[in-house]
Amino acid sequence: MDYLEIIGGKKLFGTVTISGAKNAALPVIAATILSDKNITLTNLPNVVDIRTLLKLLNMLGATINHDKTVAEINNGSISSTKAVYEIVSQMRASILVLGPLLARFGECEVSLPGGCAIGQRPIDLHLKALEAMGATIEIKGGYVRAEAKNGLKGAKIIFDKITVGGTENIVMAAALAHGTTQIINAAKEPEVVQLCEMIRDAGVKIEGIGSNELTIEGTAGKTLHFPNIEIIPDRIEAGTYLCAAAITHSSITLDKVNPTHIRASISKLEMMGCSFNLEETRITIFPQASLKPVDLITSEYPGFPTDMQAQFMAVLTTCEGESLVEERLFENRFMHVSELNRLGADIWLKGNTAAVKGVKTLYGANVMATDLRASSALVLAALVAEGNTKVRRIYHLDRGYDNLEGKLLSLGVDIQRKKES
Ligand code: EPZ
Repeated sequence: MDYLEIIGGKKLFGTVTISGAKNAALPVIAATILSDKNITLTNLPNVVDIRTLLKLLNMLGATINHDKTVAEINNGSISSTKAVYEIVSQMRASILVLGPLLARFGECEVSLPGGCAIGQRPIDLHLKALEAMGATIEIKGGYVRAEAKNGLKGAKIIFDKITVGGTENIVMAAALAHGTTQIINAAKEPEVVQLCEMIRDAGVKIEGIGSNELTIEGTAGKTLHFPNIEIIPDRIEAGTYLCAAAITHSSITLDKVNPTHIRASISKLEMMGCSFNLEETRITIFPQASLKPVDLITSEYPGFPTDMQAQFMAVLTTCEGESLVEERLFENRFMHVSELNRLGADIWLKGNTAAVKGVKTLYGANVMATDLRASSALVLAALVAEGNTKVRRIYHLDRGYDNLEGKLLSLGVDIQRKKES
């Protein structure tokens, strides 16, 4: 198994190019199921989760030509509608094939994703919404078996909670449904917007893109013809590099980024004492010599993203004073706390709130990654920890960060990927 060895204390400098967004690419790939024509996707991040979803499509019978950041997909040859446990258990986002498979083929079986390191993450809202659209759903043998032999019907869906994946599944299902679907309390993350625009550009009428209310007129079963798509920049990867600059008090530039998508992170970093030069697709960060503590509450877009909570916590461990970090989306997204404390951080956890007391020095140690963003938080802390830090179980990082160590190396970090002996 690989691990990362980082020797802390280096200043960062230079420019880093931000990759395409994993969480935008996954629903876009799933949505290609709504078509039987060729489509080319560009600016895909070169990460394991993308390869896993393409493998799933391939197992369903799709023809795929994938090379790092580009994939040509043709779903005209799909011959199976079963998403097997072996793939879904590797990546929860596989559940995104449920809506499009059911909409196009009138039936499908998708393994239940099960629990996750950051929380329970049920899919009840996806299933209830599909039932409201006329699907019959049965859970048997660990699989969701869904049927809508005469096609899905447009319906009014009111989500009890804002759900990114739930909104995406229902937008895809509604695109081929009979009649109009209204989604109230929809997610409006940039990744959801890219999916809606993709479906709109294929000729489906969608109103309310980027808002909490979407209205979608289905094609009554007619498959779509998508234009080629360039995946939007990864706002979480971008935010992570801004945190790397902040924690090391370094000035770096991010290229190929959308500054409007990371306003919440930029605003918190400004409160901490960082200033920015924002251009259309570039951001340069200028952190002050000492950073101030700040309180954070995670929420849906455009609020402060849960996917940046761990990385900000790493930065806050070295700010002078106390910060409160409240996690409102996932009940267990604090696995990084005890590992950060192993590096010398002073974090106390009570319920869904962490009190972070800044310390003068972090010290290198062996730490273990538990999920994707928790892993990047440990890497950030290691950038300033005195001595040598070994971050283990970095397969979590490989799922969602494109060439993390290569990019950090080019920014001047002393980092090496090694194999456990
Ligand atoms: C997406 O997960 C992202 N994943 C997550 O990114 C991100 O943390 C999350 O949205 C929130 O922004 C992808 O886009 C692939 P949700 P998703 O449905 O869609 C509850 C990362 O690090 N809920 O918006 O699974 C749920 O438990 C990852 O890249 C239900 O109760 O998140 C959570 O508390 C991790 N029932 C809340 O809603 C449901 O049926 C929001 O979850 C669905 C969700």
